[in-house]
Amino acid sequence: MNFTRRTILGAALAACVTTIGTMATPAFAQKPLVIGFSQVGAESEWRTANTASIKDAAKKAGVTLKFADAQQRQENQVKAIRSFIAQRVDIIAFSPVVESGWDTVLREAKAARIPVILTDRSVNVSDPSLYVTLIGSDFVEEGRKAGRWLADYAKKSPAATLNIVELQGTVGSAPAIDRKAGFEEIIKGNPKLKVIRTQTGDFTRAKGKEVMEAFLKAQGKNINVLYAHNDDMAIGAIQAIEEAGLKPGKDIIIISIDGVKGAFEAMIAGKLNVTVECSPLLGPQLMEAAAAVKAGKPVPKRIVVNEGVFPAEVAAKEFPNRKY
Ligand code: AHR
Repeated sequence: MNFTRRTILGAALAACVTTIGTMATPAFAQKPLVIGFSQVGAESEWRTANTASIKDAAKKAGVTLKFADAQQRQENQVKAIRSFIAQRVDIIAFSPVVESGWDTVLREAKAARIPVILTDRSVNVSDPSLYVTLIGSDFVEEGRKAGRWLADYAKKSPAATLNIVELQGTVGSAPAIDRKAGFEEIIKGNPKLKVIRTQTGDFTRAKGKEVMEAFLKAQGKNINVLYAHNDDMAIGAIQAIEEAGLKPGKDIIIISIDGVKGAFEAMIAGKLNVTVECSPLLGPQLMEAAAAVKAGKPVPKRIVVNEGVFPAEVAAKEFPNRKY
């Protein structure tokens, strides 16, 4: 298996950056580029790494970053975007909490001629010209990868049926919608695989634990598999499973998404079976794209990151290579 990560179209972006570096002192190079960034919140290990990556990349690129934490609330993001417009930043970037409800504020940014870059999560807007590019993972594919791993596992399992409980991410968010859809696409029609409960755990450990407790109360030993839309919810659920006197990773097979260090530790301890990688290290790509946009260069509408799948068997070997 190849665990190296490569940015699709990254070469094109890198080329843009090289060219920018050799241009005859463009106007924007005389004063630092100013980016207003609205972050979802601090709900997960993934998000903490994503924030660190963006802040670090801004510092290295000499970009002035105006950072606002929305605490998982769309209204806070709308306020932050309006404030960035009022401050006349060069670029507005944000990772949208949910997919819908962005048309009005993004039209305001467009009217103010401030380009918008999306990172991590997508939006559902009537006019695609309201943002320049989306930099982030393919969440549907992540759901498919989780489903494929389980379908393979099911083939080898002697059980007639595997009952699955699903911990969904934040309601209305792109990763929750897409990871659910990708997973369902793969397991649909598989007579062995049955989702018996599905509920949101809001991408947090605390909620993941709370909802898993409720699943266990309602279903008890009937649960064979947990599919969690992120590692933090899986880690919270592991606690609930242990407190219920069951062995996570053995009595209940656990599949999650992100590939954070906490998930690798859980796999090494035999409590998690597999994590599908979702890279939060988007800072350098955001800075490259922002510089290109500011310089009037074309950037691809979608910049996707290639990611791997890490089953428990490779966890100990891969752990030292993990960067988040
Ligand atoms: O949008 C990416 C998702 O948001 C990550 O999988 C999750 O951990 C985070 O909170």
